[in-house]
Amino acid sequence: MAATSTRPSVRVVELTVGYGDDIVLENLNLEFRGPGLIQILGPNGAGKTTLLKAILGLIKPLRGRVYINGVDVTGSPDKAGSSVGYVPQLFVTGHNPYPVTAWEFIESSLLLYRRWPRVFVTLEEKKRIEYVLEKVGLPREAWHKSLWSLSGGQRQRVLIARALIHDPEILVMDEPLSAVDPAGRVGLARLIGELAEEKLVIVTSHDPMLLLKYTSMVLLLNRRLYMYGRPEEVLTIENARRIYGEAAIPVREHVHISDAHIHA
Ligand SMILES: Nc1ncnc2c1ncn2[C@@H]1O[C@H](COP(=O)(O)OP(=O)(O)OP(=O)(O)O)[C@@H](O)[C@H]1O
Ligand SMILES: [Mg+2]
Repeated sequence: MAATSTRPSVRVVELTVGYGDDIVLENLNLEFRGPGLIQILGPNGAGKTTLLKAILGLIKPLRGRVYINGVDVTGSPDKAGSSVGYVPQLFVTGHNPYPVTAWEFIESSLLLYRRWPRVFVTLEEKKRIEYVLEKVGLPREAWHKSLWSLSGGQRQRVLIARALIHDPEILVMDEPLSAVDPAGRVGLARLIGELAEEKLVIVTSHDPMLLLKYTSMVLLLNRRLYMYGRPEEVLTIENARRIYGEAAIPVREHVHISDAHIHA
């Protein structure tokens, strides 16, 4: 078992990940311990989702190791167990023909962990579902509505609630703010900031500003090129240009990346 001092922690050592001959991440190192927020920023195709999947053990790297709470989980998602919650990138388009409510969505993920019977939740589990739905701020009247009738922000909250059901120490979220309108983003960013006070939260994003005040560490990533450090060290005009190229535009003391901007 891991010593208590290593929890919650993530350590990525000389990670190289590729798909066939296509090397996406090379020799990547990062380490963080304790509650806080790591923001992963980079353009489309930079390897953000690939890195999250490698951290979760869902992808076996070509080289390198991943340690969660001091335990080597490289290529083995089961080893991290319920200490890690995952919020995948939300799909926004298309109609889902199978209506499922927010409650049912969370309940079903709880039942999946059960051996037998997989039909009814206990009173204790029911209270846990209520707790996580309240925690993410989903209004009670939305609990039993179809997921597909909720707003993008509400749906994202349900995904986060589902990841919280086993009270993980580490929460990995893939672009939780991207499918949400500007008004919803601010509230969601606040929720993510609150979660990062008690958990180690790893978030990918296309807008560094929304989560900046909650951010402990930043990983600027564009495939084999990366910079990892404190926000004030990493989020500079020079680094943004190296990662985003033409999309990083300095305006006085700020640097803009498409519609987001960084204080240089
Ligand atoms: N299953 C896969 N098989 C082959 N190539 C893949 C696979 N998944 C991702 N890739 C490639 O790896 C690279 C990184 O993809 P990834 O999805 O990690 O980027 P990303 O930074 O998450 O992008 P986005 O901002 O669009 O979500 C891309 O070139 C992509 O085409
Ligand atoms: Mg992605």
